[in-house]
Amino acid sequence: MITTQQIKSMKGKNKIVMLTAYDFPTAKLMDGIVDIILVGDSLGMVVLGYENTTKVTIDDMLRATAAVARGTKNTMIVGDMPIGTYDDEKGALRNAKMFLNAGAHAIKIEKKPEVAEFLVKNGMQVMGHIGLTPQTITNFKVQGKNDEDAKKLIDEAGALEKAGCFSLVLECIPMQLAKAITEKIKIPTIGIGAGVHSDGQVLVTNDILGLYGDFKPKFLKRYAEIGIEMRKAFEQYAKEVREEKFPSDENSFH
Ligand code: KIV
Repeated sequence: MITTQQIKSMKGKNKIVMLTAYDFPTAKLMDGIVDIILVGDSLGMVVLGYENTTKVTIDDMLRATAAVARGTKNTMIVGDMPIGTYDDEKGALRNAKMFLNAGAHAIKIEKKPEVAEFLVKNGMQVMGHIGLTPQTITNFKVQGKNDEDAKKLIDEAGALEKAGCFSLVLECIPMQLAKAITEKIKIPTIGIGAGVHSDGQVLVTNDILGLYGDFKPKFLKRYAEIGIEMRKAFEQYAKEVREEKFPSDENSFH
């Protein structure tokens, strides 16, 4: 299993590859291919059909984390703590431990360096997340575009590094700013919509597979059209049942 130490030592040497997964079969297919599986709270949108991530509960996340853990032998698992589960330090620690019990090796939180520091001091491995932080942001646009906002993000990155995070997600920020942050801090950055200069990349698996409708922001690349293939299979099955072509003799018991 890849450790947080190994992830840290990849900075400046090998790119870190992270994808999301929320279930056993996907985790099993991904295991050993990516360095980190993020059980992201994007689950709320791409699996549960909510409009955003704010309705995701800790139970949703723990069940998904446990399923991913059952499908994973080699890859590190990071559990994304949903909104409201790390508002105060003690509550955050209690909830983080539940992620570890479910099979996660580390947890991710958005911003909140003081909570990150408390978790790290109490033995948790914490991944930070800044930029477009979907749990609290209302402006779903590229962040850090002016000097003041860019400086704020650089400061946030420094604070999360100081808090002891082992890595930091940079979401939807200009590539030049991601480069500046990546060069400034000693922990690896993992970008989504942050250009090529981060130490690693993450995308939402359902998005790269074409399993989340027509969602295709500029930073996303579709690596397959599984949604189209699934629809074709459903149509073919429905047709064959209606035409009594399925089950055929070979699919029947005698
Ligand atoms: O929930 C998620 O999938 C995430 C990634 C987009 C980083 O937080």
